[in-house]
Parts: sequence; structure tokens; C-alpha cells
Amino acid sequence: MEVRLENITKVFPAPKIKGKKGPDVYAVDNMTVEIPDGKLLGLLGPSGCGKSTTLYMIAGLHKPTSGQIWFGNQDVTNVPPENRGIGLVFQNYALYPHLSVRQNIQFPLHNVRPKLSKEEMELIAQQMADLVDIGGLLDRKPKELSGGQQQRVAIARALAKRPQVLLLDEPLSNLDARLRLQTREEIRRIQRLSGVTTVFVTHDQEEAMSISDVIVVMNRGIVQQVDEPQTVYDEPLNLFVAKFLGNPAINIFNGELKDGNLLIDNQVFDTGYQAKGEFSLLDEGIFDLAVEQGFTLPKEDYVAMLKGEALRPVAGATPDAEGVVPTEVVPFELTLENIYAFVKENGYKLNKEAFELSVQSLKAQLGVNRPIKVGVRPEAFSFAKTNEGEAVPIDINFIEHIGRDISIVGNIHDQPSTKVRVIIPSEMRSKVNADTVKLYPKRFYVFEESGQRIK
Ligand SMILES: Nc1ncnc2c1ncn2[C@@H]1O[C@H](COP(=O)(O)OP(=O)(O)OP(=O)(O)O)[C@@H](O)[C@H]1O
Ligand SMILES: [Mg+2]
Repeated sequence: MEVRLENITKVFPAPKIKGKKGPDVYAVDNMTVEIPDGKLLGLLGPSGCGKSTTLYMIAGLHKPTSGQIWFGNQDVTNVPPENRGIGLVFQNYALYPHLSVRQNIQFPLHNVRPKLSKEEMELIAQQMADLVDIGGLLDRKPKELSGGQQQRVAIARALAKRPQVLLLDEPLSNLDARLRLQTREEIRRIQRLSGVTTVFVTHDQEEAMSISDVIVVMNRGIVQQVDEPQTVYDEPLNLFVAKFLGNPAINIFNGELKDGNLLIDNQVFDTGYQAKGEFSLLDEGIFDLAVEQGFTLPKEDYVAMLKGEALRPVAGATPDAEGVVPTEVVPFELTLENIYAFVKENGYKLNKEAFELSVQSLKAQLGVNRPIKVGVRPEAFSFAKTNEGEAVPIDINFIEHIGRDISIVGNIHDQPSTKVRVIIPSEMRSKVNADTVKLYPKRFYVFEESGQRIK
């Protein structure tokens, strides 16, 4: 069964904190995703990004504020959960402790109509138990099983009614590392075998990478990228995705686009960029984006203020003989911070972070010289010159062993604050024979400060 989410939004009303109403929570914000029939979709993102909310909307336990949910060509947006044909598994397996494994698996079958016979129920319990490899444990009670076995009972129970869609919310998080790995492979096997369309929620990128046909990366309710695991890793669409996937995490360097060149630490690292001229804080684009978010003063007043030409009545002064109140210039130091304070005082709605992001996007749009971020994955460095960027000189702090590989931890030469991690195969160890090594990235990514990828 193919599942489609069309422009799904879920808003939770603002919680009241000390009697004050905060902003509404956009738990899921205009999400559009298609889950192909029989595939396993990994829903990945940090805590609070809206994964469970999405899953509960597919299940029918939450109603979307807006948008539609389709199972095949049926709009199920208003269909109650019990009529959706779903199987749900939560993080804590929630088995009935007083029932045997058999009775737990059969539990959802009792309200199937037409009624199933005892023999039919027995057969299903046995089939499902065999599928999840606990066929010999049917007479045990949950407390007589290991965590992984209990989780498999929960999956068997979810599959017993032959759901069209299987929904798993962090089903492995209560298991120890070994069991997690084992059960993960087990879920993959069961999913392949049963061919049921599955959504698997996790905040663990490695788990999502290994188990999914397709990954959806979410952040703050917003879908960041939808792709096959390897593509999400190799071609992240933005800085958030690049940082969220990969262990050890991607290296991020502060850089600068200046007159067509990409500089790191004032050294030319790459060429061929669109960047020319300086950005002026008097640029009218800032006025436009302020107005878009509620700034109320007319443009003349805005410009006069920024140029230090705005006048105000002298405090406490009395009108002269002709009735004119003496005025004085309002002092204004032209900084982004001061512009923000000024527009905020006059109706601009968003916070400082959002304002700065908008200005960064404006700079990018104008193609001026500007700061950027460069990302290089730890395993993407090489000792030999490549046709990618210039060498990065790295001062070595120490070396760690990761299985067969070694991991150099250091910083860009003479810049202690720019931490770098490089993973190389152990046979390259001999090349690390000085305090500083020169390494070339085989592959790197360039991001605007706002996070958008530009190369
Ligand atoms: N019933 C609710 N009422 C109000 N706010 C809620 C409710 N459920 C979730 N939220 C909020 O919606 C956002 C998304 O929550 P959700 O549970 O979907 O996140 P999640 O990605 O599953 O996180 P985690 O990995 O911690 O389980 C959070 O900010 C959360 O506080
Ligand atoms: Mg959750």
C-alpha cells in the first residue's frame, strides 16, 4: 500500500507558561512525502522535530491541522485509526504481562469480524511467531523473554491483523547495543519478507541509514531532505543534513567567498565562485524583508534613521515664538544589531536569529563577498593532491584507533579553535610523520551561512 502525505501540518496550541501564552508549536510544517508500496521509510531527526507526531497522524491518533493523508487512492485523513489497517509498535513494547506470548499476538484478532475460529487464530499466532523467529516461545509470559524477544512479540502482534502499513516509533531504543543491532536486522528481514509498507522512526542516523529504503530527514517540523540513504549522506542538501549524518561528524570550517575565490584562513582554497563587492547595511533589501515581517515605518524614516539623519524633538524643550519645537539628530550607529533593535521596536515580528538568517540570504542573493561554511567528511581527506580543493595543513593533537582505521584529531595549522578529525586506513599511518600534515579533500561541500548548499 502506497502512503502519501500531502502538505500535512500539525499545530499544537501554545502552551500557557505562567499565565502567558507563547507561540503555537508547528510540530509538523507542510510535509509532503510519498512512501512507495512495500518500502521501508526511515523518519530521522533530532528530538522534538516532529517524527512521532507524523507517525501518529499516519496512524490516525492525531488529526492534521491541515493537509491530506492517502493510503493508495483512498483519502484516510478522517478515517479513525481502527479502520486504517495499521500496525503500531512503540518504544516500550507494552505487552500484556499476564498474557502468554500466544495470547498477546492473538489479542488484536478478537475484534476481527467475521469472527475467527480458535484454529485460525492459532495458525496466525504460529505464523507470526515463526516470522519473527520466536516460534518456540509461544507459551511463555513476557517477563520470561529478553528485551529483543519482547520487541519481536510486539512486532508479531502488530503484524497479526495483516496491516497495510506498519508504523514503528523508536522500537529499538530500550535495547542494549548488541540487541539493537540484531533486532534492527530482524526488523529489516521481517519487513522484506512480509512486504508491508513501513515507517520507522528513529533519531539514530546510523540506524536509519542501515535499515531504510528511503530516508526523510526532519528538523523543527520541516522536511530537510528525502532520498536514499547513500544519497542523503553523499549529497546533503543543506548544512543541517550534512551535520546530522555521519559518525564521526563532518568537519565544518569557517570560510569566506571573496572576489570569486573561496578562502579558508585567508588562503585560497578553491576558485570560480560568484562573489564580488561588499554588502552595505544601507541596502534597501533589508527594509523590504523587515516590512515583510511587520515593520511599520515608511521608507524615508527608515533610511533617515540608518543614515543618522532622523530628527526628534529635543526633550523638554519648549516651542519658540513661531511655535516650532527645536529638534536634534537621533544618533545611530550602523550595525546589524542596531538595525534589528530598530525594526523590532517598530513592528518586526521575528527573533534576532531569523533576522540575521534573512540578511545572510539577502547577501547570498546579491552575490556579495560573504562568510560561508565548508564541510569535509572525516574520511574524505587524502595525502595526495586531488582535483578538488587545496591542501589543509593540520596540526596533530593526538591519534585514535577506530577498528582498522586511525583517526587524527587536530586543528587547522595555527588555528587551535578549528577542530578537525581525519580518518585514514592504518596502512597510511607511516605518512603521519610530523606534527603537521598536509591533507587534500577528495570531496567537500560549500554552504551559505544560512545552511543552503552551494557546492
Ligand atoms: N500533544 C502535544 N501537545 C503539545 N505539543 C506537543 C504535543 N505532542 C508533541 N508536541 C510538540 O511537538 C513537537 C514535536 O514533537 P514529537 O513528539 O513529534 O517529536 P519527536 O521528533 O518524536 O521527538 P523525540 O525524538 O524526542 O521522540 C515538540 O516540540 C513537542 O513538544
Ligand atoms: Mg518521538
